[in-house]
Amino acid sequence: SNVGDDNISEEANSLISSLPLCTDFQGKKLCNYQGCWYKYNTLQGVLNFQRGFEPQDTDIILASFPKSGTTWLKALTSALMERSKNHSFDHHPLLSDSPHGIIPFLELSVYQESSSPNLAKFSSLPRLFSTHMPLHAMHETLKGSPCKIVYLCRNVKDTLISWWFFRSAVNKIEPNRSLVESTFEAFCNGTIYYGPIWEHVLSYWRRSLENPKQVLFMRYEEMKAEPRDQVKRLAEFLGCPFTTEEEDNGLVDEILDFCSLRNLSSLEVNKTKIFNKVDRSIFFRKGEVGDWKNYLNPEMENKLDMIIQEKLQGSGLKF
Ligand code: A3P
Repeated sequence: SNVGDDNISEEANSLISSLPLCTDFQGKKLCNYQGCWYKYNTLQGVLNFQRGFEPQDTDIILASFPKSGTTWLKALTSALMERSKNHSFDHHPLLSDSPHGIIPFLELSVYQESSSPNLAKFSSLPRLFSTHMPLHAMHETLKGSPCKIVYLCRNVKDTLISWWFFRSAVNKIEPNRSLVESTFEAFCNGTIYYGPIWEHVLSYWRRSLENPKQVLFMRYEEMKAEPRDQVKRLAEFLGCPFTTEEEDNGLVDEILDFCSLRNLSSLEVNKTKIFNKVDRSIFFRKGEVGDWKNYLNPEMENKLDMIIQEKLQGSGLKF
């Protein structure tokens, strides 16, 4: 085939040859499918998902743009859903598997290889999945399903900086100036893995307004600023609200502490093991709001602000 990637079916290859293509800021080949930029093997996972996924009414899907705090959301969701079985945290699944292993990505993991994967691992209900796909990529597949979606949104500039550090760590290079500039350009013109980021966020934002029972729109910054309120909001949406007794017993704080960056990154399971060929420890960095101010200059800030304003105009969304 002209694409030359062994993991990609003939069918996907021929689709790719009809799609807009680009090379991202690090030389990775991307293709634009239904308005979103994917790496070729991710597209394969998306196609497999679209063909094979059968939603169940009780499914819960955690969605986010990469580097928005996905790992944190997965840990919190797992801790909330597990708590009836597991009060002490001594044998918690998060002690023996990474948040990404416990709540795997549909297109990057579950459906990466096949449109009919073995779902035995998901036999207990509700099934918990995650995705970086924009909502429109799941629209046809989820059609009519009342399954729940939690979307985690993060400030674009912090997401960008987190991306820059992450990509540098994946490629084992210094996070240098020229790379932050090319990451910035890619975010601005949308040619970034899973981008454009505005389309991504808007797809979930709009649905959360139309159908707040189906899509819970959360923000990284709000989780940092008011963690107790936000984790209670999440628990309610997931259908497992805190009881008064649990609140009186300090369980809200216990879950927040357990899922803190400090605690999660200190667990052996998140320090050493490998996830999707990358070292798990690089999913934990600073976890701060506004770290972008240390790296983006005022010109960059203005340019992004202008683009954001234009793209989000009339949507009611600020970010
Ligand atoms: P920074 O690079 O800004 O520190 P994702 O999980 O979507 O890949 O996002 C990674 C970002 O979330 C990183 O941001 C990382 O430090 C932060 N993060 C990871 N675990 C966290 C936690 N438990 N609490 C808060 N932030 C966390």
